[in-house]
Amino acid sequence: MNKIIPVTLLSMLLAGNAGAQDKVMTVDVSKPAKGAPIQSTMYGIFFEDINYAADGGLYAEMVKNRSFEFPQALLGWQSFGNIEVRTEGAPFERNPHYVRLRPASHNDKRTGLQNEGFFGVTVEAGKSYRFSIYARAFDSGKSKLRVELADLASMGENQAVGSVSLDIDGKDWKKYTATIKADKGVKKGVLRIFLKGDAVDLEHVSLFPSETWKGRENGLRTDLAQALADLHPGVLRFPGGCIVEGTDLATRYQWKNSVGTVENRPLNENRWHYTFEHRYFPDYYQSYGLGFYEFFLLSEDIGAEPLPIVSVGLSCQFQNRNNPKGAHVDATREALDPYIQDVLDLIEFANGATSTKWGKLRADMGHPAPFNLKFVGIGNEQWDQLYPDRLKFFVDVVRKAHPEIKIVGSSGPDSEGKQFDFLWPEMKKLGADLVDEHFYRPESWFLAQGNRYDKYDRKGPKVFAGEYACHGKGKKWNHFNASLLEAAFMTGIERNADVVHMATYAPLFAHVEGWQWRPDMIWYDNTNSFKTASYYVQQLFSLNKGTNAIKLTMNGKAVAGNDDQDGLFASAVYDAADNTYVVKIANVSDKTQSVSLNFNGLKKKSAIGTYTVTSLHADNPDAENSLDNKSVVVPQTKSMPAVGDKTAKVSLDAKTFYVFRFKVQ
Ligand code: AHR
Repeated sequence: MNKIIPVTLLSMLLAGNAGAQDKVMTVDVSKPAKGAPIQSTMYGIFFEDINYAADGGLYAEMVKNRSFEFPQALLGWQSFGNIEVRTEGAPFERNPHYVRLRPASHNDKRTGLQNEGFFGVTVEAGKSYRFSIYARAFDSGKSKLRVELADLASMGENQAVGSVSLDIDGKDWKKYTATIKADKGVKKGVLRIFLKGDAVDLEHVSLFPSETWKGRENGLRTDLAQALADLHPGVLRFPGGCIVEGTDLATRYQWKNSVGTVENRPLNENRWHYTFEHRYFPDYYQSYGLGFYEFFLLSEDIGAEPLPIVSVGLSCQFQNRNNPKGAHVDATREALDPYIQDVLDLIEFANGATSTKWGKLRADMGHPAPFNLKFVGIGNEQWDQLYPDRLKFFVDVVRKAHPEIKIVGSSGPDSEGKQFDFLWPEMKKLGADLVDEHFYRPESWFLAQGNRYDKYDRKGPKVFAGEYACHGKGKKWNHFNASLLEAAFMTGIERNADVVHMATYAPLFAHVEGWQWRPDMIWYDNTNSFKTASYYVQQLFSLNKGTNAIKLTMNGKAVAGNDDQDGLFASAVYDAADNTYVVKIANVSDKTQSVSLNFNGLKKKSAIGTYTVTSLHADNPDAENSLDNKSVVVPQTKSMPAVGDKTAKVSLDAKTFYVFRFKVQ
């Protein structure tokens, strides 16, 4: 249930009303511009191809197994008539399978195939779809196809809701394109191809909505890409996660396979296909259609620093925990050489001159200007001595060749404990610039972490809170209370902006019919999406990150949910762009609390002027947004009249997160 007006306006307006029980928070505004700079990268996003985040998600391709490369070559397809899967004379050497269609043996019999898409081919009435295919009429040099968007559940005379005819002309492979308009909408449709002429070979069958993000041909879903842009993220970490490592090294994410002609990017396994038997998806692979070039473009589009993560020569240590020695490359320079070369080549792909091999590929793909890559993460959730033994070779080489690139190391999969305590000093020894920490932890953990970063070494590497989310005990979904605790935790990140330089919630995306892991930040079906309460928390921090962290205390102490602080967590920043003080407070307690915010150090004639208060609240801590109701938990903003004093009194409703933006007058 949604509560629209979370702040008790009256008590805010009537000075003195809060009375003796007011808590006093002191915001030190004496030298705001001297506060620790908030890094532009502070609040970002982490993309991993989990939960059908790429194929079937952000990547707008609607055909599953478009190149017939799944181990079962026709998985996702139904074929009828005279059809055969072949490899001889294939047009794309890294995707060698294609299909041969010959006319059926009788006028009333048919040859063709139909694709089921990702959880159905979903089309919307009145919208257009861009179909493309590679074909050759190898026999007579002429053939014909009829391509349909079809509703198999239709009770109408005609299953097709849109169709187009394509003449195939010539014995050599050529690309054919056509636009199909859907007269009716279909949720669980198919893409159907009828052979209407002589024998033909077909390859790389593709269907995109005509409308994609920025109108790009190999494009992204507009609603999902826009949701990312609306977060105003400072950094985009990609492509994972565990898929960076692979179940084995052969199936690790190899960025070089994800660039160049899209038709020739080889298929890779996706470990999320089989990791959980209880959430099993046998048709989940990586087409690499959304590859490193597209990730760099996306970063540029949404103003985020790209942060690619690459393999350190260790496959997933968790999956190989019973085989600790078997799943990695030896810790020698020679054995690691191809992995290290991949990093150097990646930097060249992103930043190199167009005269270089990889810089030229970037230019050929359409982006001659460098992507201005500044960060590289090496290894995902690695642990034990195995990791530093390998990482050191990467650090040596990358430092020498590219001193300008910042290196991100890992502290393993745990938020604390043996591996964490071992790896942090190792990362420091190796001179990592940032250390990636992961924590998917319950409410109790988040409640106890308000002071986590207050104690960190100020001289060591900086922190990248690279994967985190509150996983409610017995409630693994995106309920409001989890997002409130994430907000509480994030005030501690913000207070420690001198040591925490990046933070990214995880995972980012989930298809409602194809998830393996939850909670997640943004959910969708094939055409519709919604933002979770956690999304709004991330967005509130990102939009209000300010420029400098400033001190906020209560009884001389940071406000971090400690025993004597009644469930309050708070941080403050200065925003030099509009001379505003931004105060964030999470009241995780069950009671309304009155707080006097004392702006200490304001110039004699200055006072707090008008302000806005944005709040995120739900009466029911288990409330969540959904495709059917996207606005159960959404932020509400109110403009408030000038305070005209150096102290602003605010009333904080129970279980509510607040962002106050105070103007100085
Ligand atoms: O985000 C899901 C997984 O959690 C990531 O792949 C991995 O890095 C972590 O264990």
